[in-house]
Amino acid sequence: MIILAIESSCDDTSVSIVKDGRTVLSQFTNSQIDVHNKFGGVLPDLAARKHCEFISAVTQKNLDATGLNLSDIDVVAVTYAPGLIGSLLVGVNFAKALAYSIKKPLIPVHHIKAHIAANYITHPDLKPPFMALVISGGHTHIIEVSSYYNFKIIGKTQDDAIGETYDKVARVLNFPYPGGLYVDQVAQLGNPEAYKLPYPKAGVNPFDFSFSGLKTSVLNLVHNIKQKGLPINHNDIAASFQHIASTIVSDKLISATIKSNLNKITISGGVACNSEVRNKIVSNANKHNLNVFMPTPDLCTDNASMVASQAYNQYISGYIYNDNLRLNANSSITIEQD
Ligand code: KG4
Ligand code: ZN
Repeated sequence: MIILAIESSCDDTSVSIVKDGRTVLSQFTNSQIDVHNKFGGVLPDLAARKHCEFISAVTQKNLDATGLNLSDIDVVAVTYAPGLIGSLLVGVNFAKALAYSIKKPLIPVHHIKAHIAANYITHPDLKPPFMALVISGGHTHIIEVSSYYNFKIIGKTQDDAIGETYDKVARVLNFPYPGGLYVDQVAQLGNPEAYKLPYPKAGVNPFDFSFSGLKTSVLNLVHNIKQKGLPINHNDIAASFQHIASTIVSDKLISATIKSNLNKITISGGVACNSEVRNKIVSNANKHNLNVFMPTPDLCTDNASMVASQAYNQYISGYIYNDNLRLNANSSITIEQD
């Protein structure tokens, strides 16, 4: 089955053509980083406008690269939630029009389900049940995946997402937006014990996260050093922050997996590219005989192939959307409400 998928929930206009949910035939993404980084974050109106500008060309590039025609497409898939509403609406309306014009089914996909499904592309033999960690610019979730369409939230952030925290730390250290990658790179050159940063206390649910206290501590630390006129050691600050952030996600993920009697773990989302997060989760999981699966870095950040992968899972599970013209975007629906 050939699926053409569209992802436009934030600032990447991504379109893919994927065979049977596991084999990527083509993927092209127009990144808007250069447009937004001078503002230090994504400007929602500008993001939506840029999606409008690029979505047709990015789709055409996929058809050109694969040599396929629109008549070869069996299903159209699109991220309909959650995300920036203007950005989502561009993808949803483009997908509705495309599916209608070629008279093919349209499958709406939840963005967090798609991030999890990225793992099926890199590991075609992977099957539920497993525990999934989704860590990105907008999400920090531990999710129990009991089937291709059954998802239960075990823990989530009560305030900032981990990627958002990385981006704020990067900003105060004067790195361009989005700065997670730069923090990761310099952290590898620093001393993780240089600064004592707080390990956030668990709330009522031990698997929930809180990153705002940690973020504020890093910002205060940098401002204090600046006020004293002392030099800022970027490497040591990044290393001390990354040490705590990666320990938090790894500890909670491993204990949630053991508590639920599962033996497989997946990680995905942009922050799953992080070197220390990947290493720490793998070494902790090994100690408990748990298997870890993660997508290649290009499938961790936002991309349309993961949307096609989840759409395929929904299609073969009989979850087919029959009301294409009524489909609407939704900025905030949870994975359990989807
Ligand atoms: O999944 P994604 O592309 O978009 C969302 O759905 O949010 O994730 C983007 C996030 C950004 O916050 C970016 O700084 C972060 O992923 N990121 C990283 C790394 N690479 C990307 N954070 C830490 N370490 C990295 N190596
Ligand atoms: Zn994402």
